[in-house]
Amino acid sequence: MNRLRFLLRNGAIAVAVLSLLSNCAPAQEPIVIGVSQCSEDIWRAKLNRELQVAARYYGGVDVLFASADDDSQKQISQIDQFVASGVDLLIISPNQTQAITPAVERAYDAGIPVILFDRKINSEKYTAFMGADNVEIGRVLGEYIAKQLGGKGKVAEIFGLAGSSPAADRHAGFMRAMSAYPDIKITGSYYGDWTEESGRAAGEYFKKNHIHFDAVFAQNDRMAVGARETLGNPANVQFFGIDALSGADGGLQAVLEHKLVASYLYPTRGDLVIDLAMSILNGKPYARENRMESALVDAYNARMFLMQEDEIAGQQERFERLNSNLEASLVQLNQQKTILLLIIGFVMLLMAAIYIVWKAALNTRRLNAELANRNLELQTLSRQMEKNLAGKLEFFTSVSHDFRTPLTLISGPLERVMEGPMNREQKHYLGIIQRNVDILIHLVRNILDFRKIESGNMRLKLSHFDLVPAIREWMDCFQDIAADREFLYFGPETLEIDADRHLVERALFNLLSNAFKFTPSGGRIHVLLSQEGGEAVLQVRDSGIGIPEDKVPFVFDQFYQAGDGTSSGTGVGLALVKSIAELHGGKASVSSRPAEGSLFSIRLPLQHAENKVAAADYVIPEEDKGGRPVESYSGSVGRTEELIEMVAPEDDDRPTVLVVDDNDDIRTYLRGLLGSSFRVLTAVNGADALQKATREQPDLIISDVIMPVMDGVEFCRQLKEQIVTSHIPVILLTAKSLEEQRAEGYESGADAYISKPFSEKVLLSRVNNLIRSRTQLREFYLETGAAMGNSEREKDFFARFREYVQNNLADSELSVEQIAGELGLGRVQLFRKIKALTGYSPLEVVRIMRLKAAERLLKTTDKTVSEIAYQVGFGTPSYFSKCYREMYGKQPTEDRQ
Ligand code: FRU
Repeated sequence: MNRLRFLLRNGAIAVAVLSLLSNCAPAQEPIVIGVSQCSEDIWRAKLNRELQVAARYYGGVDVLFASADDDSQKQISQIDQFVASGVDLLIISPNQTQAITPAVERAYDAGIPVILFDRKINSEKYTAFMGADNVEIGRVLGEYIAKQLGGKGKVAEIFGLAGSSPAADRHAGFMRAMSAYPDIKITGSYYGDWTEESGRAAGEYFKKNHIHFDAVFAQNDRMAVGARETLGNPANVQFFGIDALSGADGGLQAVLEHKLVASYLYPTRGDLVIDLAMSILNGKPYARENRMESALVDAYNARMFLMQEDEIAGQQERFERLNSNLEASLVQLNQQKTILLLIIGFVMLLMAAIYIVWKAALNTRRLNAELANRNLELQTLSRQMEKNLAGKLEFFTSVSHDFRTPLTLISGPLERVMEGPMNREQKHYLGIIQRNVDILIHLVRNILDFRKIESGNMRLKLSHFDLVPAIREWMDCFQDIAADREFLYFGPETLEIDADRHLVERALFNLLSNAFKFTPSGGRIHVLLSQEGGEAVLQVRDSGIGIPEDKVPFVFDQFYQAGDGTSSGTGVGLALVKSIAELHGGKASVSSRPAEGSLFSIRLPLQHAENKVAAADYVIPEEDKGGRPVESYSGSVGRTEELIEMVAPEDDDRPTVLVVDDNDDIRTYLRGLLGSSFRVLTAVNGADALQKATREQPDLIISDVIMPVMDGVEFCRQLKEQIVTSHIPVILLTAKSLEEQRAEGYESGADAYISKPFSEKVLLSRVNNLIRSRTQLREFYLETGAAMGNSEREKDFFARFREYVQNNLADSELSVEQIAGELGLGRVQLFRKIKALTGYSPLEVVRIMRLKAAERLLKTTDKTVSEIAYQVGFGTPSYFSKCYREMYGKQPTEDRQ
């Protein structure tokens, strides 16, 4: 809007300036002067030229000409047309006095100034008159003729157009002179019309009528010359005319050639007429009657007049030329002015555009800066929140760890006590204690599981089982508290699924706990199960207090607590439900209405696609199918023997040792011995151990040699043969006396052997050494890219892996599929392989390589942290910094020095 206003304002300024510039020479309406001529002849032509030149001299004056061709009617209509067209002034030479008078009066009455020129009318209705004194001209010529004739002789007169004022006046003047010469007779008169033809006609007439004369007085030169020619240029007759025009056909030339004895210069003086017109139009003083002086021309002064006329004509021509040059210059000037105006306009628009762009750039920069600040604030805030949440979770986790042992020590003895004899009351109270211990155990498990999912350490342990009996079994745990509520299952009789049984149980447990918490006595809690496409939909519907609409979107957030915050619970239960659903590739949702109840749903895929399998660490082998979870806890709460494993079986970050022995005592003994420092798994023979090792990839294996089903040597050989497990160090326990067992053991690829009976100290130190050297190897492996393992194939494989990643480090989208494809492996195969070789998932290795490359760049180049982050393939610098901090315990900038 502002920009538009600005543009309009600038546009207006530009227009104003442009019009100001163009107004320097305002285009005024020209003055229009109409000229109504009675005739068309050389005298009139000269006059018209003079009018034109004089008007041009003034400038801004248009002169329009009309000629009546000696026709009074024609002249009347021409004058009327001039009046109708609204000319500013009229110059009229009336053809005939009487006939033209009314037309002139009409023009005058219409308010148009009228100048009568050369001829008169019968009215005072005209503005000014300009012309020579025709009576005087007639008289002077009469005197001259009389003198030429010596006061005696015969004269014939040829008149101009009858009814025109010069004809009458010239005759009157002539007759006045003649009256003084009684010996001069007027022997003939002919009424011509000013044309040469009429002069010839006069000659014919005189001849025909045998009229004799010594002199002919024609009222103009043209008629005199015409008559002379017709009469055969007689030498004894003197011819006289009026006008004395210059030029080949003019009277001056005729005098010089002695065709005429004398003429009288009848002045045209168009310049004076225009001067008079301009004075009238500009309101300047002027004379109404303007007499033009003139003179008689004979053989003595004709040449001088001719020269004068030539001089004037030359000057006029020079003026014309000057004028046309001036006009050409003006046209050029106008063109240049137009171009200049266009340039100025363009420059102004350009400046306006530059200003707008500059303003916009400033604005954008300011907005960007604001945005960056806002982002920074948000980032700080979200970091703070993350920190708070992480701190909270940290706290809960450590508290949960602390609770675990006391809970075990309450729960175990409690169960013992409850197995013994007791009365009803004792049983009642102990039952309450047991249920609440169960709840506590459940809460502790929630927190530990949640923490594990959050930290990315939760691994799905998929098994194939029927969901329906499992749900019924899990619901049983709530029967106690469900007594006064309608607690029912709706759904099919069977629905088989691949899922982590333990986690699904946790999800349902949390949903039911939540439902019971918010559904008062007499309410309904229904568990609904259905199949939709390839998904199982497990729902818990309650008729409880419901969730306010504005809180619904947050119920799955961690530490969210429904209600006013006074309700019990850690706030991780529903968050865990959501995480469990998502971990399975499904999702959790809720719909709720206050006072009506809530419906929580989780959708779980019935089967896991290849890529989802990869997200889990492994799938349960065929033989494990049968509904039993792989981990050895029952899924029902409160069984003391397995409580510790059940509470956090996977939460153990310590190295894993797999003990393989068919002897229960040995297994128990070794579990006891190693349990304080390691997570201990057990297997009863080589086949069992091979399975578990493949699945669990322990950090070390201690195996007996002699066992049923598969002995230790065979187990070791197979273990070392498969790429996934070939790197796991194996300690074989051999009988001291059996030396060949030892040799066999080494052949099979065992890393160490220990003879039975062994010293605890030796075993522990051997175990520790092997694990430490393995860790060191892994680090060395990652650091240098050197291959570890027992075959050239492995070395070559890892070298190719490393090279491909190194070459594609900048690609932030680099995926496991891509790398696997490059190396000719499946995604899962690659995952297992890399994990086995390095202890990290492929993506973790990629990230470590990115960070190591970044560290090198930070230390050896001047590139900014952001540049380095992008160069090594991080999507955002902030995520890069976070990862860097996690790996090196410091900010990337700290590595700059
Ligand atoms: C031109 C003309 C002249 C003459 C004058 C009288 O049209 O015929 O020859 O002197 O008019 O008005």
